[in-house]
Amino acid sequence: MKKTLLLLSLTSSLMFASTGADLTKNNCASCHMLTTPTPDMIPTMKAPAMDAIMFHINLVMQDKKEIKDFILDYVQYPKASKTVCESNKVQGFGVMPSLKGKVSEKDLAIIADHMMANFPTPEFVAMIKEVQKNDKINALQDSPFLINQENLPHFTGLLVKNWDKAGLGLTDEQKEKLLVVRKETKKGVGKLKIQIDTLESEVIDAMIDREAPSTVASQVDEIAKLKAEVTKIHLKCIANTTAILSDEQIEFLLPFWE
Ligand code: HEC
Repeated sequence: MKKTLLLLSLTSSLMFASTGADLTKNNCASCHMLTTPTPDMIPTMKAPAMDAIMFHINLVMQDKKEIKDFILDYVQYPKASKTVCESNKVQGFGVMPSLKGKVSEKDLAIIADHMMANFPTPEFVAMIKEVQKNDKINALQDSPFLINQENLPHFTGLLVKNWDKAGLGLTDEQKEKLLVVRKETKKGVGKLKIQIDTLESEVIDAMIDREAPSTVASQVDEIAKLKAEVTKIHLKCIANTTAILSDEQIEFLLPFWE
């Protein structure tokens, strides 16, 4: 009997232990993984990892109170237009179900403090930096553009990631126009890129076969011409996109430009 009582009091004290770590584990971990994810885990996830969420929040908000208010609000009233995560990822996961009434505001405040103090982990930040660096190198190696400086943004990519955000505030009319620009750009670049890739393979094969450079001189000239063309399409895309956006909208996009 004594033993049962002891056990009971033990379990009840465990049940009432409401540290931030416990509350986060009990209420959020069924969807948000709390350990540092690796990129290969992403396809099997139900929701972004807590590391990723706080990484994105920190990217757009600096003030602690603003961050806490955002978390408290989002968990109770989630909505695609409010997200700080990338719009295309949110679409993939589906919007988070509201936990209003399931988690008390008091517990939520403790959870938010715990999230802010513990995420993202330095390991996650280091990993993201590495992934971004590799993405950049890969993009450069595969680039059909003549100008690859970082100051020349890929606006359409930035827009896709921020498409539904209230802070960007794209109107339906803007979205329609932007989709036309994106489609035209992709079509133009895609067609020329295939030609460039084919010509580049011919040049590479010739050099592997130890042929004289003069045998592929015309291909090299053609590659230069095509790359100039693709670059002009890119510049046109930037001009057409920025003409549709307001100064404030361009300003909003800048922090996401990695
Ligand atoms: C049933 C699954 C589920 C549970 C449980 C859950 N979430 Fe989410 N959460 C999601 C999904 C899916 C997303 C990504 C889509 C989105 O942003 O709405 C998300 C996104 C978020 C975001 C990011 C919002 C943004 O900017 O996109 C925050 C913050 C968040 N969750 C906090 C929490 C907290 C805190 C808890 C625990 C109290 C929790 N979630 C529990 C599924 C869940």
